Amino acid sequence: MGAAGATGLVLGLLGALLCAGKGASGADPIVETSPNVTSGLDVVIFCNLTEPQSPILGRMWKKGDKILTSDKETSGYTFYNIGEVNGDSSGVYECVFEMSSPVSRTVYVTVRPHVTAYKKSEHGNEGDTGILICKCNSYPPVSQWTWYKIKDGANEPIVNGTEQFIIKSSGNKTELRIANLDIEKDPGEYLCNATNEVGTDGAVVGLRVRSRLAALWPFLGIVAEVLVLVTIIFIYEKRRKPDEVLDDDDGGSAPLKSNAPNHKDKNVRQRNAN
Ligand SMILES: *[C@@H]1O[C@H](CO)[C@@H](O)[C@H](O)[C@H]1NC(C)=O
Ligand SMILES: *[C@@H]1O[C@H](CO)[C@@H](O)[C@H](O)[C@H]1NC(C)=O
Ligand SMILES: *[C@@H]1O[C@H](CO)[C@@H](O)[C@H](O)[C@H]1NC(C)=O
Ligand SMILES: *[C@@H]1O[C@H](CO)[C@@H](O)[C@H](O)[C@H]1NC(C)=O
Ligand SMILES: *[C@@H]1O[C@H](CO)[C@@H](O)[C@H](O)[C@H]1NC(C)=O
Repeated sequence: MGAAGATGLVLGLLGALLCAGKGASGADPIVETSPNVTSGLDVVIFCNLTEPQSPILGRMWKKGDKILTSDKETSGYTFYNIGEVNGDSSGVYECVFEMSSPVSRTVYVTVRPHVTAYKKSEHGNEGDTGILICKCNSYPPVSQWTWYKIKDGANEPIVNGTEQFIIKSSGNKTELRIANLDIEKDPGEYLCNATNEVGTDGAVVGLRVRSRLAALWPFLGIVAEVLVLVTIIFIYEKRRKPDEVLDDDDGGSAPLKSNAPNHKDKNVRQRNAN
C-alpha cells in the first residue's frame, strides 16, 4: 500500500509537471461556476465540473463552515437556491465535489451593509455612560463604521476619543459610548453608518437622558411621606402637651413618687423572703 501510494504520488507529481506547460489542466479540473452575486430575488448558484479525473462520489454546498446540502449523486452539475439576496443570504458559498481528491469552488454573494440598531431607543441617567449599538451581519464585513449626531437635520460626525465619545467597532458591530451623560446636550438622535466594498447603509438610534432627580423620585417620595407624618405627629403632640402638663401638676407626679417607694418595698420584701 505504502509503495503504491508513493508511486501514485510520484506519478501525480510527474503528471502535474508535464501538464503545467499545457495550462495545468491536469492538476486543475475545469469547473464552470455561476458569477458572483450582488442582487436578485430568486437566485440560483451552480457549479459545473466537466471531465472529472476520477468518479464523483457526491456533492455538497457549504456557507462558511456550515453544510447547506449534500448528496451522493455523481453528476458534475450541482446548484443551490439562495432565494432573495439580502443581509442574511449574503456570504461565501462553496460547492464541493467528493472525489478521491475533492474539488471545490467558491461563489461570493456580496451585498451592501444591512445595518440594524441593537435598540432603536436607548436611555441613561444623567452622569452615567450611555451605550448605543449597531449591528451588520451582511457580507462582506463592514470596512468603515462612522457615527453622527443628528443636529437640526444635519449629520455631525463624531470623532473617536473627542469629548465624552469612545467608538468600538468590529466587522459586524459598532458601539458608541458617551461618558458622563449631559441632560442638555446629549439626548437626541444618532446615526451609525457602515460602508463596505459594495455600498453603505445606516441606522438611527435615539437617546434619552433622565435627570438624576428622576432616578431619586421613589426615594424622595418616601422621605416626603415620612416628613409629613413626623410633622403631623409633632403638631398633634404640641396641641396635646398643655393638657398633659396640667394633668401632671394636678397630681400625676404624686402617685409617681409614691410608686417608687412601693417598688423598693417590694424588692426589699423579695430579698427578705429569699
Ligand atoms: C468573485 O469574487 C472573488 C473575490 O472578490 C474573485 O476572486 C472572483 O474572481 C470572482 N468570481 C467571478 C466569477 O467573478
Ligand atoms: C456543464 O458544462 C458542459 C461543458 O461546458 C456543458 O456542455 C453543459 O451543458 C453544462 N451543464 C449545465 C447543466 O449547464
Ligand atoms: C477609539 O479609541 C479607543 C481608545 O482611545 C480605541 O480603543 C478604539 O479602538 C478606537 N476605536 C476606533 C473605531 O478607532
Ligand atoms: C461577528 O463577528 C465575529 C468575529 O468576526 C463573530 O465571532 C461573531 O459571531 C459575529 N457576530 C454575529 C452576530 O454574526
Ligand atoms: C454614510 O457615509 C458615507 C461616507 O461618509 C456617505 O457617503 C453616505 O451617504 C452615508 N450613508 C448614510 C446612510 O448616511
